[in-house]
Amino acid sequence: MQSLPEVAAALVAPGKGILAADESVTTMSKRLEAAGVAPTAESRRDYRALLLTTPGLSSYVSGIILCEETLGQALPGGPPFSEAAAARGIMTGIKVDKGTAPLPFSDGGFVTEGLDCLRDRLADFRARGAVFAKWRAVFRPAGLHPRTVHANAHALARYAALCQDAGVVPIVEPEVLMDGDHSIGICHAVTATVLEAVFGELEAMGVDLAGIVLKPNMVIAGAGCEDQAGPAKVALNTLQALGAAVPASVPGVAFLSGGQSNGQACANLSAINAEAAAVGEAPWRLTFSFGRALVSDALLAWHGVPANTGDAQSRLAANCRRASEASQVTAAARAGA
Ligand code: 13P
Repeated sequence: MQSLPEVAAALVAPGKGILAADESVTTMSKRLEAAGVAPTAESRRDYRALLLTTPGLSSYVSGIILCEETLGQALPGGPPFSEAAAARGIMTGIKVDKGTAPLPFSDGGFVTEGLDCLRDRLADFRARGAVFAKWRAVFRPAGLHPRTVHANAHALARYAALCQDAGVVPIVEPEVLMDGDHSIGICHAVTATVLEAVFGELEAMGVDLAGIVLKPNMVIAGAGCEDQAGPAKVALNTLQALGAAVPASVPGVAFLSGGQSNGQACANLSAINAEAAAVGEAPWRLTFSFGRALVSDALLAWHGVPANTGDAQSRLAANCRRASEASQVTAAARAGA
């Protein structure tokens, strides 16, 4: 069996990223409805089966994150999802958090829940083939209260420690949301504060940083901000925020897409890698763990119609290929840009 640092390193191996296909039943149902597909357990299964069976997916993707419902399902007429993933050389991850709830006395902040019974749930998920896990905390820059930062950082660290104790690699996901009209400078400051708190708690909890993957937001302006920075500025701000808080022992940073299009997220990831290489290589691999930026085009093309499967899979593969290429950009690309 591979050690936690070996699994973490494999998740961020050169040219590889992670496909986040772990939307909760509620979120996935809304997205299916918006794409004109009736939201049922079967349609959610068929959609995730389409994603996983995309030809060539494992050239770009080391792991796929599933929700509990999908981990308990099988490909139509085939093996369970975790076995089907393993047969394709793709590691199975599981979203273990239970979503967010209002945090008292925090001016409207939210805390991610799901620590109760997590030890037993992790043992069960591990037995069913999950080798890594995900927990997402969200931070809205407008009016962010220190209690929201502290409570979420603490919960992320408790989760990460429980994962490692169960032999599961934790993906640690603190997301500063794009919602709002905040500037890139505000996103930078909030991201730096959040990352510092998260790594303080991870170290206090005894988590082996070589056995985690960090999944942060890129440092970008809020979606409602008129002044949207280009990739070069996003790269500088993102690397500064990471550099101030993320120890070199962390093997990889796999960014979420957070509502960016595939083109935008890949342009920013390319610039981040080019900038990192230009200033002498970051200590961590810099790759992707995108959800919407990989899958949205495929969902729209599919429409729940089996005859559209090939077209949908081609779109997913193209988006994954672009993200993989962006994760391998070097300083030469920046010089030529
Ligand atoms: P997006 O890339 O769509 O933000 O999703 C990533 C994810 O896993 C959110 O938890």
